[in-house]
Amino acid sequence: MKTAIVTGAGGFIGSHMARFLKQKGYFVTGIDIKKPEFSKSAADKFIIADLRDPKLVKKHLFKVDELYMLAADMGGMGFISCNGPQIVHNNAIINLNLLKRSAELKVGKVFFSSSACAYPEEKQMSTRNSGLKETDAYPANPDTAYGWEKIFTEQTCLSYNQELGLKIAIARFHNIYGPEGTYEGGREKSPAALCRKIANAKKTDSIEVWGDGKQTRSYCYIDDCLEGVYKLMHSNYNLPMNIGSTRLITINKMVDFIAKIANKKITKKYNLNRPQGVRGRNSDNTLIKETLSWEPQISLEEGLEKTYFWIENQLKKKE
Ligand SMILES: NC(=O)c1ccc[n+]([C@@H]2O[C@H](COP(=O)([O-])OP(=O)(O)OC[C@H]3O[C@@H](n4cnc5c(N)ncnc54)[C@H](O)[C@@H]3O)[C@@H](O)[C@H]2O)c1
Repeated sequence: MKTAIVTGAGGFIGSHMARFLKQKGYFVTGIDIKKPEFSKSAADKFIIADLRDPKLVKKHLFKVDELYMLAADMGGMGFISCNGPQIVHNNAIINLNLLKRSAELKVGKVFFSSSACAYPEEKQMSTRNSGLKETDAYPANPDTAYGWEKIFTEQTCLSYNQELGLKIAIARFHNIYGPEGTYEGGREKSPAALCRKIANAKKTDSIEVWGDGKQTRSYCYIDDCLEGVYKLMHSNYNLPMNIGSTRLITINKMVDFIAKIANKKITKKYNLNRPQGVRGRNSDNTLIKETLSWEPQISLEEGLEKTYFWIENQLKKKE
């Protein structure tokens, strides 16, 4: 039986990844500072540990076939735009601890979850972003400290690979969304935040939108993301690769989609004082299509519908 450790298994992507790997027949160990909030972990074993502590990493990490590094101090724009020192400190330490110990243990292969936030700000100044290619990352100039840490850890992974022979896979995720992700509390990302606001709205109502709503992004549903990670992890490709969608939409359009799903008449109140990140961000999927024959299968309408009704249901449970 193949063995895997998923760090961040108490979070959004990590909890889905633990379930995905279980379904593939792995023996899965999850590690996180907290258990998943919304359902029982699918992992065979779940360890509560703070991965910033090298002694705990030494104690709990063991030789496995595959290590999925998904633990991070992270959130949507509202969180990452104003917690730079904390984010860089925590994430760099987590990742340095895990890579060092993985090399000592000779772990079979390590996956690192990088981000589209690693791309330079100047290539994301227009709403008409035709897609960021992997090579666009350099010369590096991410717009957030969160993105700089991702660039730093990508490079650290590459040097472990080149100098110590540690097998690695690196994905740059572009806005992954779906059920069982944070939807309130300050760390939520735009699809979940907008679903929550619309679920809480009356049949005819207005909601607050950060910025002018004309900023663009592309969104990838969690199931597609997991397939992409799995394919990447089982390929020989070891440089950073985009995992995202190439369908660019404005935040305004996304609000309209969700309002239609909810069957509500929603108008937008723009708040220009809230962070909105880069003006336009999109994935170029040429490399992943050519290398892994992967492209997203779940449309934004389908993915948003699943996400919306999951969030609506969570809110109803609280009433
Ligand atoms: N969700 C996205 O759209 C997206 C986009 C780009 C990159 N990523 C990356 O993917 C990974 C997973 O993201 P997510 O959306 O699941 O985030 P998440 O916040 O839902 O999950 C991260 C998990 O890491 C855990 N964690 C934080 N600090 C820890 C510590 N010191 N020790 C142990 N565990 C700790 C958290 O408790 C949390 O459960 C992260 O590396 C993130 O940067 C996500």
